[in-house]
Amino acid sequence: MNKIGVIGAGAVGSQLAFLLSLSGVCDEVALVDIKEGLAEGKALDMSQAAPVTGSRCRVSGSDDFSLIEGSDITVMTAGAARRPGMSREDLLKTNLGVVREVSALVKKYAPGTLLIMVTNPLDIMAFAAYVFTGFEPSRVMGMSGVLDTSRYRSFLAAEAGVAPPDTRAMILGPHGDSMVILPEADLGGESADTLIETEVLEGVKTRARSGGKEIVELLRDSSAFFAPAASAACMVKAIAGDSGEVLPCSVYAAGVLDLPEVFIGLPARLGREGIREVVTPDLAPAELKALKDSAADLEKKITSLELK
Ligand code: 2OP
Repeated sequence: MNKIGVIGAGAVGSQLAFLLSLSGVCDEVALVDIKEGLAEGKALDMSQAAPVTGSRCRVSGSDDFSLIEGSDITVMTAGAARRPGMSREDLLKTNLGVVREVSALVKKYAPGTLLIMVTNPLDIMAFAAYVFTGFEPSRVMGMSGVLDTSRYRSFLAAEAGVAPPDTRAMILGPHGDSMVILPEADLGGESADTLIETEVLEGVKTRARSGGKEIVELLRDSSAFFAPAASAACMVKAIAGDSGEVLPCSVYAAGVLDLPEVFIGLPARLGREGIREVVTPDLAPAELKALKDSAADLEKKITSLELK
């Protein structure tokens, strides 16, 4: 992939642009933000790091969205972030307006792009971007499950004394308190159930569900950005490298497990075309019910916003 567009030069967008510039997956990163000077300044700062980081990626920034023209993948991080005491849903009204405006610009300047949504509340914003751009479902996806799962794996790893990369787990469902944590988790070849006491494991799951909130409460004037940016970069790498990797992403769910027409976290095989396939997960009745309940709840919200 040659060019990645990053919309929003706030904490997540700029961290993502920098990670991508270091990753070797693209020749060019275009960072845009409506705030005059912000994206340009941050891009300049990143460019000045290249001689010492060894990055050969061109990073440019502007408040003119035409800069994203020709992007193969665009990541939308624009919008307000949570403050202490706020839920992701509290951002709905503000960010829906942002996503409406920005989607029109993506459609205008990068009509062939794949679109990864990061703006919260994630699953609703991913659906909104799908509607506003008119892109095929395979070209629009949300970054949620990769982040939620990464948080969960980091807590599991710490409890079990295993290196974080040696853990496997998966979180599906919505990017919110009712995320669906799949019971199987592998920690360095052993199952989480055998390494971690049931009560402690339940505590880890609870902590994973509110992993974003814990950081908002600590930072106070920002929400998390290192792990969210790294998770978006992980999706970009899977697409750019045409890896065929299965990652939990917020995707168009109609046609899978009889779910309604919503975006919600499901395992998705990623490749250069975007979502190569949504893999139907084999869920126990409790997880299936939790997924369906959340999907029904999302459908109500989408309908009340007149997005369908
Ligand atoms: C989080 O969970 C920003 O929603 C993101 O931290």
